[in-house]
Amino acid sequence: MADQIVIQVNGNPHIVQAPPDTPLLYVLRNELGLHGPQFGCGLEQCGACMVIYGKEAKQSCKLRVGDVGATPIITLEGLMEDGQLHPVQQAFMEQQAAQCGFCTNGMIIATAALLVKVHDPSERDIREALDGNLCRCGSHLRILRAVRRASELMWKGAE
Ligand code: FES
Ligand code: FES
Repeated sequence: MADQIVIQVNGNPHIVQAPPDTPLLYVLRNELGLHGPQFGCGLEQCGACMVIYGKEAKQSCKLRVGDVGATPIITLEGLMEDGQLHPVQQAFMEQQAAQCGFCTNGMIIATAALLVKVHDPSERDIREALDGNLCRCGSHLRILRAVRRASELMWKGAE
């Protein structure tokens, strides 16, 4: 049975009608029209559906909407500010760190969460942070470059 549930997404409260065990991913995509998070595996295995949940990158396919509560959720769409791309989005574009782009949402979200905590990550830090994100296209080297570039843009005043 559908409940009325309030969730905080991209800085705004949203009232959604859904059974509490509905995956947050479905609500974001189907109720709120936020198509940044992708449905890959639905099993917490690929990372394509990631959102920032509180301060952590989290797979939204396995989060039940009824469990979200007041924890703020940021999707790919919510990373932009004043019409400007987030530095991580900018870096991924600059480095052309995608082929099909299906994994890109999760890669960007995981990177954004990492760089808030670790300003100058080592290669090991990056690999560990992106361990839950699969890319079937082999874009990994460009993704690594994009994460380093994003770190420069965010924290070293690079242009
Ligand atoms: S769709 Fe959520 S981890 Fe794959
Ligand atoms: S760019 Fe295609 S899955 Fe990563």
